[in-house]
Amino acid sequence: MELEKIKEIVKTRLSEKRFHHSECVMNRCIELAKKFNVNVEIAAKVGIAHDIAKEITNEEKLKYVEENNIEIDEIERENPTLLHSKIGADIAIKEFGFTEEMGQAIRAHTTGITNMSLLDKILFIADRTSIERGFPDIEYLNSLLEESLDKAVLYIIDKKIMLQIEKKAAMHPDSIIARNYLLKNGKL
Ligand SMILES: [Fe+2]
Ligand SMILES: [Fe+2]
Repeated sequence: MELEKIKEIVKTRLSEKRFHHSECVMNRCIELAKKFNVNVEIAAKVGIAHDIAKEITNEEKLKYVEENNIEIDEIERENPTLLHSKIGADIAIKEFGFTEEMGQAIRAHTTGITNMSLLDKILFIADRTSIERGFPDIEYLNSLLEESLDKAVLYIIDKKIMLQIEKKAAMHPDSIIARNYLLKNGKL
């Protein structure tokens, strides 16, 4: 599906604020795709669509995964908000004709995942550092991006983990797995 059409549909499913976030993430994805030689149109589509399932109620999320045979774990069952990634990927593949690779980027955007692709990393970073977020260490983060994409991803994973610790909230094992993979195999 064309980017403009996807945008129109996303707009009908999200609040004004979340749609604005999605547009900002799309713009940041475009910027990063150009920087790291990724297909700009694909990155833009993944950016605009990444939170398509964010405003579905938790009850509906649990219903959706059951009806669509999406496997979930204990942490996701207890924190259904996390499921917006898996559900968003499913919707984008089925409704917008996204490839598995594009779906994977949406699936991985909240927690990270082992062996992330370039596209996964771009969306992961774009979601945290889109302009409207006012990411506090943006200059430092951008300097890491000059050195390597992996350094920036690791920095964001570390921030996310620290935030979960501060909130005394459960941590999804995929974030730890993503971090361990980067420590071992990343360009750091
Ligand atoms: Fe999200
Ligand atoms: Fe987001």
